[in-house]
Amino acid sequence: KKKAFIFDLDGVIVDTAKFHYLAWRNLAKEMNFDFTEEQNELFKGVSRVRSLEILLDLASYDATQEQKDRWLIQKNEEYLKYIKGMDDSEILPDVVRVLDFLEEKNQGIALGSASKNARPILTKLDLLDKFQAIVDGNDVTAAKPDPEVFLKGGEALKIERTDCIVFEDSIAGIQAANSAGMISIGIGEQDVLHEANYVFKDFTEMSNAFLLELIEA
Ligand code: BG6
Ligand code: MG
Repeated sequence: KKKAFIFDLDGVIVDTAKFHYLAWRNLAKEMNFDFTEEQNELFKGVSRVRSLEILLDLASYDATQEQKDRWLIQKNEEYLKYIKGMDDSEILPDVVRVLDFLEEKNQGIALGSASKNARPILTKLDLLDKFQAIVDGNDVTAAKPDPEVFLKGGEALKIERTDCIVFEDSIAGIQAANSAGMISIGIGEQDVLHEANYVFKDFTEMSNAFLLELIEA
């Protein structure tokens, strides 16, 4: 059967989650706030604008709109510096094996990311042509945990939501997939992503036999 496999980008295909964290942490320093990796879990999958709101909240910092706009630009400029030299050696282990297997089985493959930088990153990784549809932060109005980004991915491939499978490293993304009525697969730690239907540490732990079961289910 033809299913749709929808991949998140940051933290699933490439380890850019660490760069987002570093950029937010440096911004937090300007608020005299020590932003921890544990708190960063809440930022994964969340849009840039919403992330700043959460950070200001955590830091109990009252910023003007002008200041917020400046910080959003500053955060993205720093993030872009980190990813500037990125190439396909940064693709996470076995991502290409999974993509190739799904392609060989004629499955739908889409990207569902909150990032507005998704296309340039996929281009750097030389992965753009692996995706039949790309839905990113430029295409949605509601951020994860809202299901919009994944629903649009399924629609673009013309696959019903119950036949869509989502790979996600964030709590917000797992919640988005669940509320879309899709199968959610967490990539990361079981204790963080316990709301997912399945959790794997990374793609090296996910066999082709498991993918085949999803296709045939
Ligand atoms: C998500 C990341 O994929 O994209 C978040 O997990 C990030 O950390 C969000 O804030 C928005 O990304 P960008 O590239 O548009 O700032
Ligand atoms: Mg992610």
